[in-house]
This record gives sequence, C-alpha cells and structure tokens, in this order.
Amino acid sequence: MTEQTATATLSFHDKTLELPIYSPTAGPDVIDIRRLYADGGVFTYDPGFTSTASCDSTITYIDGDAGELLHRGYPIDQLAENSHYLEVCYLLLYGELPTAGQLEDFEGRVTRHTMVHEQMHNFFRGFRRDAHPMATMVGVVGAMSAFYHDSLDISDPMQREIASVRMIAKLPTIAAMAYKYSIGQPFVYPDNTLDYASNFLRMCFAVPAEDYPVNPILSRAMDRILMLHADHEQNASTSTVRLAGSSGANPFACVAAGIACLWGPAHGGANQACLEMLKEIGTPERIPEFIARAKDRDDPFRLMGFGHRVYKNFDPRARVMKQSADEVLDLLGAENNPVLHVAKALETAALADPYFVEKKLYPNVDFYSGIILDAMGFPTSMFTPVFALSRTVGWISQWKEMIGDTRQKIGRPRQRYEGETRRDYVDVESR
Ligand code: CMC
Repeated sequence: MTEQTATATLSFHDKTLELPIYSPTAGPDVIDIRRLYADGGVFTYDPGFTSTASCDSTITYIDGDAGELLHRGYPIDQLAENSHYLEVCYLLLYGELPTAGQLEDFEGRVTRHTMVHEQMHNFFRGFRRDAHPMATMVGVVGAMSAFYHDSLDISDPMQREIASVRMIAKLPTIAAMAYKYSIGQPFVYPDNTLDYASNFLRMCFAVPAEDYPVNPILSRAMDRILMLHADHEQNASTSTVRLAGSSGANPFACVAAGIACLWGPAHGGANQACLEMLKEIGTPERIPEFIARAKDRDDPFRLMGFGHRVYKNFDPRARVMKQSADEVLDLLGAENNPVLHVAKALETAALADPYFVEKKLYPNVDFYSGIILDAMGFPTSMFTPVFALSRTVGWISQWKEMIGDTRQKIGRPRQRYEGETRRDYVDVESR
C-alpha cells in the first residue's frame, strides 16, 4: 500500500482512535479501519459498499464525477479507437501494452484454446432447449472445473495462467454453444483463422449448410463491445469473483459465480431489460408516460440503461457505444431503426428532465449496446452472455491480482444484527 499521508481521529463512547489515511495514485484518500474492531470493539456499517474500498488494485480506475475510465492508465476512448479486444486483455492481465512479439504469442496461446472438451457437448444436451443462455453459461463455466483438472491448483502460477487463457479462449465458444442449443441448431466449431470477434460472430450465426463471410464492420463493432465491457473495477460481479476466490475456490467456479451475479437486471442484465423497454415504449410519443413512471416513487419501474453507482456524469463507454450504434445501423441500412429513434428521443427527454439532472442519471454502457446487438441479429437473451464473455478477462485479471497478493485474506464481512436476542427453545406442544 502507498505511504500513510495523514491520520483520522475517531472519538466515540470513551475511546479515541487514530486511523491511518493513505493517498492512492488517483481517487479519494482511504481511511484504514482494519484495526477498528480489535482496538475499538465496533464495526463500520456500509450495506451496498457505497464508501468502502475492498482491496488494493492497479488494474482499472474510474473517476465517476469526470466520467473517466482508465485501464492501467489508458483512457477507454483511446483504447476503443486504437486497440482491439485481445490487446486490451493482455493489458488488463499483465499491466502493459504488449510488444508486437508479446501480442503474437498471446493471440496464439488464446487461439489454441478456443475448442471445448468434446464431452462438453453432451453436457450441454442435458439442459432444456428453452433455457436462458445465462443459465446454461453459469452451469457450463462452473463445470469447466470438472473438465480441466490440470489448471485447478491456484497456488501454481503456471496453472493460474493456463486457466486464465482457457477461459478467455473458451467463453465465446461456450456462449455461442448456449445460443445454438437454445435455437436447435448444430454447434459451430471455432475457426482459428479468424480474429476473436469474427470467430464469435461466426460461431453464433453460421450453419454447416452455408458459408458465413464475416462482415468486417460488424466484427469491428463486436470487438468494440467486447473492449468496452472488459473490466470495470470492483463492480458487483467482480467483487463476487474476488469473494469466491478469497476462499481458495478454483477460478472456473469463481467466474461462474461472477456470471450468476452479472445476470441481474441492475447489473449486466440491464442490456436485455433496456432493449425490451425501448421496444415496449415503441414510439417517441409514449416517452413521457415512461419517464413519469420512472419518477414515481410508488412505481418500481426504472429507466433501464440509465444511472450508475459510480458515474455521476456521462458513462464514457456510452459515448463510444452510441457512435458504434450509428455506424452499425448505417451499414445495415437501418438508420431509421425505430428502436434507435426511441432511444435517442428518450436520452434527450431524460437529460432535459430535472429529476434525472438532479440525480445525475446519465445513459450507461447498456443503453446503446443492446441496439447494436439487436441489429446484428442477436436475440435479447444473448445480450448478457455477450457482456459475460467480455467481462471474463476483467474477472480473471482481478482474481489473479488478488491471489498474487500475499496479504490476501478470506473475505468475511460482519453485520448489524437486528434479530431476537438469546431465548430458550420451546417444545412444539407449548408454542
Ligand atoms: N431510473 C429512475 N430512477 C433512478 C434510476 C433509473 N434508472 N437509477 C437510479 N434512480 C434513482 C433512484 O430511485 C434513487 O432515487 P431516490 O434518491 O429518490 O431514492 C436515486 O436515483 C439513486 O439511485 P440508487 O438506486 O440509490 O443508486 P445505486 O447506485 O444504488 O444504483 C443502478 C445504480 C445502476 C443500480 C441504478 O441506477 C439502476 O437501477 N439503473 C437501471 C439499471 C441499469 O441500467 N443498470 C446497468 C448499470 S451499468 C452496467 C453494469 O454495471 O452492469
């Protein structure tokens, strides 16, 4: 940890404690409360972790007020413009942009691992055909620990490395298989002559009966979606992966836990929920009705794709995503796409509404990603699986960082207990 720069004095009851303050390389100072319970006999109380830094990390930095996102120091818009997904994966995993030789080696290692164990095909067939692809992915990724026994020893750096490369390589194959299975089409094996994004598109949309030439503009758009979702600091699913990993669980089990957490509509499931909402709104005339519902405290409805725990300014990923949506719909000759039309009108209406302005609710990454995926031909049920495969590298990078940290402890929060105090058992006849 960085040097102590100041001290906070905490006085309560008859006690006064001196708590060290550290200044990180960027972001707010942190007050170190690790000895608070031992020295003061009290807990901190922060459900939802709105004021809690749960770890040290050097991977991703977000300035929510400035609307800035940096991976290893590099701004996301520069990466989205100039880099590509596997290069960003390398950056997240190893800390620096690769040289040409390092990139070639890394791409080769990932590409060699794109196929899944053939017996996994049988495993897929155990699921109901109409299973949501996220349900299938939680199961299949968890089951990777039953198929790849030679990369489960987390104390061996080489096994950690192999498990990492395996997951980055196989998640697109698994997501595509979950989709193909749900629509009753045969699985499409990976084609290692293609780049990562093109290969994924082909595994989703090709059929054995026909050629599937991958459109380079769609492949570039898919690559950008992957890049923009690659990591996002200590969000709910990443914290889930870290917490699962803190017990020493194997990396496949940890990433399966991350996928389960991502599925929720407040997190990765928002892209599916957002497109379904835009389709339900249907025409710009109905926007005031939906905005009124979002503002009504007695109505649980929220504008999906709006708001963020950390960003209180434009989500920088949403800007790039909006530009990509324009490009893709233009290419597909669908610039008058009704969903895009509703999305743009909704964004304008919300950004002019005092409720959204005062609460600093801006469009987030999920607002425009669904429109692109929809235009590419993905059903809404595949939106969150695409997010999951993009985020896998983030989960693994954060997990590797944690396992490599010698001060790492099992994550074990405490609670404010509000239940009954001790009472004696009563026999069933006397209750
Ligand atoms: N529509 C209407 N009101 C909202 C919205 C919204 N989308 N988001 C927040 N608010 C209101 C909320 O009702 C609350 O009002 P009040 O102060 O009067 O009680 C206030 O804004 C603060 O909201 P919060 O729920 O306390 O904020 P949070 O940081 O706990 O939640 C969020 C963040 C992303 C879960 C939330 O904004 C939300 O539910 N958004 C819609 C779902 C969504 O788009 N999620 C994707 C997030 S980005 C990708 C990812 O992380 O996976």
